[in-house]
Amino acid sequence: MPSWPFSPETAFAPMEGITHPGIRALYLDGGGLGLVCTEFVRVSRAPLAVETVRREVVRDPRAPLSVQVMGNEAEKMAEAARIVCDAGADVVDVNMGCPMPRVVRKGVGAAMLKDPDLACRVVGAMRRATPKLLSVKIRAGFDDADGVVSLAKRLEAEGIDFLTVHPRRRCDFYEGVADFRIVKALAAELSIPVVGNGDLWTAADALRLRRETGCAAVMIGRPALRNPWIFQQIEALEAERAPVHPSGDDVLDWFERLRGLTERSFAERRSGALGPLKELTRYLLRADPRRAEYEKEALRSESVDALFAVLERELRGRPADTLDLDAWGTLGLETSASAASALDAA
Ligand SMILES: Cc1cc2nc3c(=O)[nH]c(=O)nc-3n(C[C@H](O)[C@H](O)[C@H](O)COP(=O)(O)O)c2cc1C
Repeated sequence: MPSWPFSPETAFAPMEGITHPGIRALYLDGGGLGLVCTEFVRVSRAPLAVETVRREVVRDPRAPLSVQVMGNEAEKMAEAARIVCDAGADVVDVNMGCPMPRVVRKGVGAAMLKDPDLACRVVGAMRRATPKLLSVKIRAGFDDADGVVSLAKRLEAEGIDFLTVHPRRRCDFYEGVADFRIVKALAAELSIPVVGNGDLWTAADALRLRRETGCAAVMIGRPALRNPWIFQQIEALEAERAPVHPSGDDVLDWFERLRGLTERSFAERRSGALGPLKELTRYLLRADPRRAEYEKEALRSESVDALFAVLERELRGRPADTLDLDAWGTLGLETSASAASALDAA
């Protein structure tokens, strides 16, 4: 198995509106992370604005930074690669997975999967523009997954250093479960490292994906919002140490840290921290089997204090075993089991 250039073999996935420098720093505080990523930076005709580069390319000394770019004009993407690498990115990543209609309509993101010649032209130009690490993040396909191995091989031939795959098709958006057989097929066929992503809801799922597909690393997005301890838990399992098992008080501490961060980061927004905090709270509550009793009330809160009061009432003193936050997902609130069964069938 070709090895991934970073250690540990974990990445915090790019997420638009979420993975800004402050939140990346919070996750780095917890440890267990090998790579952090920016959300996508849109590259269009105009050169990348200095302000955008300054906002996105914020490197934390504790981990390498992958800056993701999205666009389909080879020369502009090559120029963007040069700019973000000069600004300090350790990796430049190309978004070929975003399924949103506003993106696909412009022929970028997952739309690039429909045009392998264009995808290769863009990546080839970027390769010539920077000696730094170059990666591509793909979905399994646009409407079907038939061409995924051949596209990946062509991208490898263009000189990318690693490939990340979220094995859903564009037409799936986030429905169904990730098909890990595609990760296994890509890991078998490529000589560069393959990073597996999608529905790794527990640390045990992440280890299982690596073991059973031969992928070189895992990338985790939504599951890390639901369980912010997941990277530490992966590290502990790998080292055969007991992983942390967070309690209700731990979740409240995490919420307080998110609150401090969002209040600083979103001070200029009229709606302030409340909107972003509610979005993050929705993920956190997915780990509570009792959330139906209070989630609506929490998300209807009209202030951060009111939101915190509901969480405090429901989570203070809750023992760890009443929340689905252990490394194995013992309470089984998420559907990764069915995702893993796709491998059993492979
Ligand atoms: C709110 C949100 C924003 C996202 N933004 C990006 C993005 O900017 N670039 C990208 O490549 N993927 C983006 N994704 C996709 C994730 O990186 C990841 O591939 C997907 O969520 C599946 O992994 P997960 O099950 O670990 O979340 C986004 C996902 C979410 C939920």
